[in-house]
Amino acid sequence: MSKKELLDELKKKMEEDESLPLKKGTTNLVFGVGNFDAKVLCLGEGPGYWEDLKAEPFVGNAGKLLDSLLQSIELPREEVYITNVVHHRPPENRDPSPEEITAYGVYLDKIIEIIDPRVIVTLGRFSMGKFLPTARISGVHGKKFVVKWKGKDLVIIPMYHPAAALRNGAVMEQIKNDFLKLKDILNDIKNKQEEVKIEQMNLC
Ligand code: URA
Repeated sequence: MSKKELLDELKKKMEEDESLPLKKGTTNLVFGVGNFDAKVLCLGEGPGYWEDLKAEPFVGNAGKLLDSLLQSIELPREEVYITNVVHHRPPENRDPSPEEITAYGVYLDKIIEIIDPRVIVTLGRFSMGKFLPTARISGVHGKKFVVKWKGKDLVIIPMYHPAAALRNGAVMEQIKNDFLKLKDILNDIKNKQEEVKIEQMNLC
């Protein structure tokens, strides 16, 4: 099956799953959007008002900021894959509970497995917590971490949540700087992969 078929099948399963704890009262499941072959996956917290209405992650004000941050490093939204830690809007946009994160996590893990990104940019502390459970965002934002995930090396780059940047000018400055660092980190990864390819060609 293609990645698209696998994701469509998973989305259907999720839409039919009545046990998902935040489903009640929402308009739509907000599954994920973007390039199925993306090397970079952006992981947010959970849908808000506009995301719930449009069934697409990051389409409100935080989404507009995310788009411009991605544009600032010449990484178009269409080139990445974007999803969230929970895929239904929490009531009144409250924080998702650990139980809710676990319930949606079963599906999130499958999304990550299918997309198979090299890098995950976590947006906010809930998505950071999935991979770096003991980290504090103020100490680690914009830095590169390599974690073992399902037997593979995954690069995690924790970022502040764009909504936090919209509320606080200092965080806005940080997130802009962190995206510039992200550009360098992505270039570095690309160059290393090319070096490995050249080494492999030389060995043949
Ligand atoms: N904030 C998030 O964390 N995710 C969205 O999809 C929108 C806003």
